[in-house]
Amino acid sequence: MSLYLPCDSLARAVGADEVALALASPDLQRTSSRGLYWLEPLLEVDTPQGRIGFGPLTAADVPSVLDALQGEPSAHPLALGLVEELPYLKTQQRLLFARAGITRPLSLDDYRAHGGFEGLNRAVTIGGDETATAVFDSGLRGRGGAAFPAGIKWRTVRATQAAQKYIVCNADEGDSGTFADRMLMEGDPFLLIEGMAIAGITVGASYGYIYVRSEYPQAVATLREALDIARANGYLGANVGGSGLAFDMEVRVGAGAYICGEETALLDSLEGKRGIVRAKPPIPALKGLFGLPTLVHNVLTLASVPLILAKGAQFYRDYGMGRSLGTMPFQLAGNIRHGGLVERAFGLTLRELVEGYGGGTASGRPLKAAQVGGPLGAWVPPADFDTPLDYEAFAGIGAMLGHGGVVVADDSLDMAHMARFALQFCAEESCGKCTPCRIGSTRGVEVIDRMLAAPDQSGRDEQAIILKDLCDTMQYGSLCALGGMAPFPVVSALKHFPADFGLQSSEADQ
Ligand SMILES: Cc1cc2nc3c(=O)[nH]c(=O)nc-3n(C[C@H](O)[C@H](O)[C@H](O)COP(=O)(O)O)c2cc1C
Ligand code: SF4
Repeated sequence: MSLYLPCDSLARAVGADEVALALASPDLQRTSSRGLYWLEPLLEVDTPQGRIGFGPLTAADVPSVLDALQGEPSAHPLALGLVEELPYLKTQQRLLFARAGITRPLSLDDYRAHGGFEGLNRAVTIGGDETATAVFDSGLRGRGGAAFPAGIKWRTVRATQAAQKYIVCNADEGDSGTFADRMLMEGDPFLLIEGMAIAGITVGASYGYIYVRSEYPQAVATLREALDIARANGYLGANVGGSGLAFDMEVRVGAGAYICGEETALLDSLEGKRGIVRAKPPIPALKGLFGLPTLVHNVLTLASVPLILAKGAQFYRDYGMGRSLGTMPFQLAGNIRHGGLVERAFGLTLRELVEGYGGGTASGRPLKAAQVGGPLGAWVPPADFDTPLDYEAFAGIGAMLGHGGVVVADDSLDMAHMARFALQFCAEESCGKCTPCRIGSTRGVEVIDRMLAAPDQSGRDEQAIILKDLCDTMQYGSLCALGGMAPFPVVSALKHFPADFGLQSSEADQ
């Protein structure tokens, strides 16, 4: 009887290794995680009907689970039944995370048995032009935050002549509440390698880098091992997948700054410099790493490519709405009962995500707001929770989807404090290149402090007007989105929660 337990770092952090020790079974396989994080450590056991689950387990629960397996497993208090029938999982549309919780991260056999390298094989068969066209036609947009159409970047880099081009994978994953990149790198590393290999042979880049944040040591180690395995099996090197083309890559550990996730600062960091944002143009697709054409993509963007090739652009386009096509792995975190990864086609509502999948707040108190898209994302109040998760629909309510992180807050959270935190964060993480961000963030913190200390309403109103002006300057005058978006959490907090600032109405609306 095979047993499966995740080796994902979150599962390990909540005790999966101790559970594995207690199981002491030669039949135990350490797989990736399903991403149903509130159930970790989640033990799965093969039955003729499919895998049944038990969780969240501690080592102390192991003897009783083993006993239950000899008799009536469903009688155990931590029995979950068939894992794939759990509504949280069953209703998801897992394309990118199809293997999550099922395969062993470093088993090439598992990867191949579940569709691995079908995309690369297809790309080798159809050649660069058709591969670039498939990416373009799929409608895939960058998952790092800016949602720029991937196909346009691919065609630009492919069309640019240079002796050397690069693929750079942005795995800095700095946004609060996000973990999809980590889950994918730790759990399905060959998928990212396959996506990068396809990108390399398509745009004519012979070398790639994965820039992984230093806080992800397990992802770094797993990727490095996976690279060795892929190389030894002909998926990297002088003749990638039998294409006759060369592509190889390495992992670089990030320098530990939020701004190093911004693509041009990341390129500086990769070059061994301090991460400072570069002015655009020139865009990295033309002059990127070491001044050479570079395709920079987020982990999830690159990892979407094998599936697009294997199943076709139309298959991918059939998911989603409007110009937001395919699926998005949303990440539920913060004050939420059922935190975890929810991969669904764009278009479900924030309410379905937070109240449906997430089950509301962990504290049981009323929901106050959700911050979507990282520390620079707007606070969305429950009144806007019926907005579909779609790039354009979110822009329409003054918010953004970003990398799909959703941090939930209950009614005890003070939004004035969170607005101050956003500006403080910006002040600490600013690269210092442009004035609105470097100076504006610090002045913004001071204005909020003055507002909160003001003795009367008119004093607070006066500071709110200054704050709104300052936010405008930062939004429209900053060189990159750090300074440009830091106003989003501030303005949304002012607009939806004026009372937290001691204001009677929202000055931000005026
Ligand atoms: C301050 C800042 C931080 C960013 N952090 C990340 C990050 O951690 N990961 C990421 O993929 N993109 C991040 N981005 C977006 C990148 O600049 C860039 O748009 C992305 O790597 C392009 O890949 P994509 O086309 O796949 O989205 C950040 C942008 C800014 C302005
Ligand atoms: S907005 Fe901030 S982080 Fe971006 S370039 Fe200007 S100073 Fe640097």
